[in-house]
Amino acid sequence: MPTPADTPPEQPLTGGNVAAAVVRVGDTVRRPAGAWTPAVHAFLTHLHDVGFDGAPRPLGIDTTGREVLTYLPGTVPWPDRFDLLGPDAALRRVGRLVRDLHDAAAGFTPPPGAVWRRLIPPDGTDLVVHHDLAPWNLVVGDRWAFIDWDTAAPGTRLWDLAYAAKAFVPLTADPAWQRPDAARRLRTLVDAYGLDERQRRTLVPLLAHRARSMHDFLAAQAASGAMPWTRLWNEGHGETWRRDAAYIRARERQWTRALLG
Ligand SMILES: Nc1ncnc2c1ncn2[C@@H]1O[C@H](COP(=O)(O)OP(=O)(O)OP(=O)(O)O)[C@@H](O)[C@H]1O
Ligand SMILES: [Mg+2]
Repeated sequence: MPTPADTPPEQPLTGGNVAAAVVRVGDTVRRPAGAWTPAVHAFLTHLHDVGFDGAPRPLGIDTTGREVLTYLPGTVPWPDRFDLLGPDAALRRVGRLVRDLHDAAAGFTPPPGAVWRRLIPPDGTDLVVHHDLAPWNLVVGDRWAFIDWDTAAPGTRLWDLAYAAKAFVPLTADPAWQRPDAARRLRTLVDAYGLDERQRRTLVPLLAHRARSMHDFLAAQAASGAMPWTRLWNEGHGETWRRDAAYIRARERQWTRALLG
């Protein structure tokens, strides 16, 4: 019988917006589980089995019903260490990581009756993607890996990449985060992922569309009082996504030139 002295202490992990109680226990992370957890774990197991190491490994459910995942040592760049994503080499690494993820995901067949936590309808359902590839869900260590797979669900490569580009370049109306070299950084990320001309043309309008879908989702959830989305809406996240979408939309010619020039 393990005694309390044998059990590693629970150490709260901060930084998340959505999951209230994420803790580290030894080399593991415990997060609240949901109806989607079995499908997400099947997906993470597949990623591991085909050699993708940019995600935690699922270790099942603990005695209190939480999901158990491997703890990934490193730094989450958002919000205080965005400098880690400044160099082009870092953006290229993110682009390749997303590409490797999608290539690994392409061979996954969801278990029969799989339940996903699909929050926003994507532009297609070609493969299972992450849906929240962002600096707040990246661990930068010896290994770079994405965390927070709760919203993994069918989608498309470009849907996921549009969101990642918005977050990692970043493409934003906020003067504190906006960059004069945003178009060039977008190109760097997309080149590292590797898109053909037709995909680049499809990606450009998706950038604003994907950001706008976040506003629309939060607005709809806030209208019905659903948590935690109403809290995020009240904190101004919806308005931020709306402004960012407008900023991106107004500069589509610039993005197109950068991606096709
Ligand atoms: N597998 C992991 N390895 C290392 N750290 C982790 C892992 N999973 C979560 N964390 C840490 O816990 C924090 C919150 O985790 P997570 O992103 O899963 O929560 P969340 O509330 O769902 O986040 P979000 O606001 O992005 O929805 C992260 O910022 C990270 O520091
Ligand atoms: Mg997160």
